[in-house]
Amino acid sequence: MIEHDVIIVGGGLAGTRAAVEIARTDPRLSIAVVAKTHPIRSHSVAAQGGMAATLKNVDDQDTWKAHAFDTVKGSDYLADQDAVEILTREAPDVVIDLEHMGVLFSRLPDGRIAQRAFGGHSHKRTCYAADKTGHAILHELVANLRRYGVHIYDEWYVLRLILEEDQVKGVVMYHLLDGRLEVVRAKAVMFATGGYGRVYNTTSNDFASTGDGLAMTALAGLPLEDMEFVQFHPTGLYPVGVLISEAVRGEGAYLINAEGDRFMSNYAPSKMELAPRDITSRAITKEIRAGRGAHQDGSAGGPFVYLDLRHMGREKIMSRVPFCWEEAHRLVGIDAVHQPIPIRPTVHYSMGGIPVNTDGRVRSGADGLVEGFFAAGEAACVSVHGANRLGSNSLLECVVYGKRTGAAIAQYVQSRKLPEIDEQRYLTQAEQQVQTLIDQPGEYRIDQIRQAFQDCMTDHCGVFRTESVMKEGLEKLQAIRQQAQRIYLDDKAKLWNTELTEALELQNLLIVGEIILTGALNRQESRGAHCREDFADRDDTNFLKHTMAYYSSAGIQIGDRPVAITMFEPQERKY
Ligand code: FUM
Repeated sequence: MIEHDVIIVGGGLAGTRAAVEIARTDPRLSIAVVAKTHPIRSHSVAAQGGMAATLKNVDDQDTWKAHAFDTVKGSDYLADQDAVEILTREAPDVVIDLEHMGVLFSRLPDGRIAQRAFGGHSHKRTCYAADKTGHAILHELVANLRRYGVHIYDEWYVLRLILEEDQVKGVVMYHLLDGRLEVVRAKAVMFATGGYGRVYNTTSNDFASTGDGLAMTALAGLPLEDMEFVQFHPTGLYPVGVLISEAVRGEGAYLINAEGDRFMSNYAPSKMELAPRDITSRAITKEIRAGRGAHQDGSAGGPFVYLDLRHMGREKIMSRVPFCWEEAHRLVGIDAVHQPIPIRPTVHYSMGGIPVNTDGRVRSGADGLVEGFFAAGEAACVSVHGANRLGSNSLLECVVYGKRTGAAIAQYVQSRKLPEIDEQRYLTQAEQQVQTLIDQPGEYRIDQIRQAFQDCMTDHCGVFRTESVMKEGLEKLQAIRQQAQRIYLDDKAKLWNTELTEALELQNLLIVGEIILTGALNRQESRGAHCREDFADRDDTNFLKHTMAYYSSAGIQIGDRPVAITMFEPQERKY
């Protein structure tokens, strides 16, 4: 059996920042990062626009409290304000710390870190590295893993969280290269497994974002929090759905419909293109529904609107958002210096996740904590984003809460022994799980089922939701789940069996999708990214609370947890 003091599942920003903090705090600890890709291919590498922090380099009127207020208002008052206070107060220090590690942020002419405007923020506070900020940060963090001697298990897929009697003891993992199974025991396990964008058929997320950590947590009998809040990023490149950064609008781009109108004046007149994402995504969807979207030939009635950069000029486009220009050029043949980019909302981010306290310790319910289990980043719900995240607060969350969770773990493991695990029992169960999939004489291909599932989630739990549409979605999902038990695999080998990995991921996607739909059906109000056409208003009397969803094969139970309101009383949210 493999042993480490700490095992971190996920090689993105939250996991790597935690690993660095643990190593800095106690260099004697044995730390391992397990990732199903190489860490520098984690989805954090695709983060573009930046990371918010009140450095005041561009706007000396900015304060952490203004950042906190913007975040809470953006969250539609569902964020836990104690967690938001930590996020915004610690933001400047974590950015400076990253700079000291070597992260190459873009600069002002006087050499200080540059900051740009972002949606829902009242000041220019987003620090960035052109439009490749995640790439710049992740590369330094991964280099630091090596510097601190962190053991990296890359291209290992974690199959199971070992939880016995309210204590997490380790994980079971599968080597993608050769099919080897291993049980790993540890004094602390941290999940930093990212999001689940692949639950939907159009997403900015990479192919690996299949909600594995969320599903494993749910299967272990632990709750997931606020999963109904799915963020649609307004500017997914049409038709592929990849991200065209909000930084493009932060640098001055317009949203226009097929008639050439800057339609955001009708939806958020004070913020225009820099309204929060929930509002902007709804505005775009309404324009398209009203027949003011465009077709490829420019005529009205089509499925997308435009992001117009032409007035920004080549020099600004190429220096501030070169990657977005390149994406549009390479993927759909648009030269954004001369042509508007076709865009529409794309699934981008999970506001919900594994419930944690501000030290990253996983909650077992509304009150208790699980021994030995931590989480941070997109996989976790601390909850700083509530019902809607502001752009550039997610890299910040990964780094602030990755660091805090790392510090908490380094302390926690000092008084914990390596747990006892019946290794053979877990190996046998994992072998059976894998072999069953390989051997089963099914009739469906994985792709068929995944496509049906993604279409179901997209059609039945999208930007706008109603009870009847969601109920129908849940019924379809039950049928898809039955079919998913009858998939067959062509590849029976152990070596680099990507078909098997996809089959395992499909099981996780289905669990996550059911939890999203059930939470969305239960929340009979509109708040942030969760927009019910049949319950159009926010309902603080009945729903100013976090959803806690408990999964079991018999069905999903919904509980709740109170929201921490420490600074700002809920008020009407207008822009
Ligand atoms: O649009 C973007 O660059 C995305 C940033 C974010 O999700 O924070």
